[in-house]
Amino acid sequence: MSDTLRWGILGTGRIAARLAGAIKDAPDNELVAVGSRSQASADTFGETWNVPGRFDSYEGVVNADDVDVVYISLPNNLHAPWSIKCAEAGKHILCEKPMAMTGAEAETVINTVRRHDVFFMEAFMYRCHPQTAELVELLKNNAIGTIRLIQSAFSFGMDAERIKPGGDVRLYNHMGGGSIMDVGCYGLSLSRLIAGTVTDKPFADPIEVNGSAAFFQPAGSGGFVDLMASAAVKFANKDGERDIIASLACGMNAWCDRTFFIYGDTGTIKIPDPWFAHECLRIEIHRGDDAEVITIDDDTDQYILEVETVQKHIPNRQPPAPAHTWADSVSNMHAIDKWRHSAGLKWVSE
Ligand SMILES: NC(=O)c1ccc[n+]([C@@H]2O[C@H](COP(=O)([O-])OP(=O)(O)OC[C@H]3O[C@@H](n4cnc5c(N)ncnc54)[C@H](OP(=O)(O)O)[C@@H]3O)[C@@H](O)[C@H]2O)c1
Repeated sequence: MSDTLRWGILGTGRIAARLAGAIKDAPDNELVAVGSRSQASADTFGETWNVPGRFDSYEGVVNADDVDVVYISLPNNLHAPWSIKCAEAGKHILCEKPMAMTGAEAETVINTVRRHDVFFMEAFMYRCHPQTAELVELLKNNAIGTIRLIQSAFSFGMDAERIKPGGDVRLYNHMGGGSIMDVGCYGLSLSRLIAGTVTDKPFADPIEVNGSAAFFQPAGSGGFVDLMASAAVKFANKDGERDIIASLACGMNAWCDRTFFIYGDTGTIKIPDPWFAHECLRIEIHRGDDAEVITIDDDTDQYILEVETVQKHIPNRQPPAPAHTWADSVSNMHAIDKWRHSAGLKWVSE
């Protein structure tokens, strides 16, 4: 491998463009190839981001000799198949969240990357940001006493143009659409990280997940997806303490306040911008009438931090916590299965 990490991207959509910018801005990283279903789209993306290798297929990138690591920015149903193809070709992998359609599929991916000895990380970018590391430290240092309740909401409002047949990949069951897969997975990921801190583990598996959802089926499609969903999630607490409850909400047809709350028996932690960490880099701790505000000094774009996390940890094949390790990603996918199933959402393929 050369000193500069050479990236290829699969897909030319919204988040592919965001990562292209981050790769360009991260020192010693270079974007050398892009693959698309159409040559025209690969060419346009290549022109915009000055990418020399432009392929009319994803295979073109996976088989390119000058690509070290592949970023998979495709619809959810294509994450596992392309991760497996990349691993078999000996390419390191950064794969968009959620890494698979099911927990079982996630296990197959991880077994494959282990067998082919390549790096793999699921692209939960917020886990690469120092704000998340700071939160873990605060909880380990007992900042709010015993954790009782976690409260998360992450939703956005798709405009009418997107909520129509063909409007967005998130509306299709066969592509792994729906709000649980798109944004609910973040709340689940962060609450599992927080529940893990009480027993000094990098994450916790929920004991119980009870979901509910409002569904939508685009005309002519074979299945429905959740437009809005919630879950009550139960985690074991430290010995002798009652369980932790996480209340999670997510959606694709209304904007909500995304402030994340953790309630303990001596105080409350409030994180105004837990996922994108670009406007309010701060963690608030409220104890009675007192408020302590911890500001995070590092305002590096978190997608650059994600690229640098990959670059730094390739030799170990997976990043350390709080980034998503392999086991953490598999656990999150199994928890998503529980949420989907209890809310009544199955894939047409299940
Ligand atoms: N981490 C984050 O901050 C973040 C943010 C947004 C999205 N995401 C994740 O990134 C992935 C892509 O999301 P996105 O918003 O970038 O989606 P998008 O804009 O719709 O792009 C998806 C790309 O996938 C390719 N594709 C392959 N088969 C397709 C099909 N049947 N229909 C439509 N497109 C198809 C297309 O590229 P070609 O036409 O070039 O082949 C398309 O541009 C999702 O898994 C999502 O969860 C992550």
